[in-house]
Amino acid sequence: QGDPRLQAITEAIRVVPHFPKPGIMFQDITTLLLDHKTFKDTVDIFVDRYRDMHISVVAGIEARGFIFGPSIALAIGAKFVPLRKPRKLPGEVISEDYELEYGTDCLEMHVGAVQPGERALVIDDLVATGGTLSAAVRLLERVGAEVVECACVIGVPEVKVNCRLKGKSLYMLVEPR
Ligand code: PRP
Repeated sequence: QGDPRLQAITEAIRVVPHFPKPGIMFQDITTLLLDHKTFKDTVDIFVDRYRDMHISVVAGIEARGFIFGPSIALAIGAKFVPLRKPRKLPGEVISEDYELEYGTDCLEMHVGAVQPGERALVIDDLVATGGTLSAAVRLLERVGAEVVECACVIGVPEVKVNCRLKGKSLYMLVEPR
């Protein structure tokens, strides 16, 4: 793509080899947050894309979806709904399990946070297998929301052919170096 901002975003993400365990090349977006222009460009690209799509809810995935989601929500006039790891939300929740490399994890959403018919954007920092995003989509669809798109700052290219999102539109700004 020709957008020069994307190159700067790619370069601002630090790659940490063997974190949190051997063999993993960790994509660390905290270094992107240190550079105000690049951080703002990242949010602006999402805001420009979603501003006129009648999105009423931005659902952010714990933990790093909480960094980008609220700024996007405020700018496009939507509410922000946190999708959290188990036993973090104090109210009544619905839960969706998803598969990890070893074992499973779970995302939860407060009952009543999203109404039937709402148009939702799901946001996270990174997509790898798509398992986390697919659990988020299931939570929103269970309460009758329409997931317009899932969006991430960084994603591995293989996810483009991954069936986990079941054809749901996925928007990624950059790929790992
Ligand atoms: C990372 C990342 C995504 C998820 C993507 O979070 O922030 O949420 O993995 O992986 P997937 O596409 O294979 O599902 P992590 O599980 O490390 O949890 P954390 O945000 O609580 O650190």
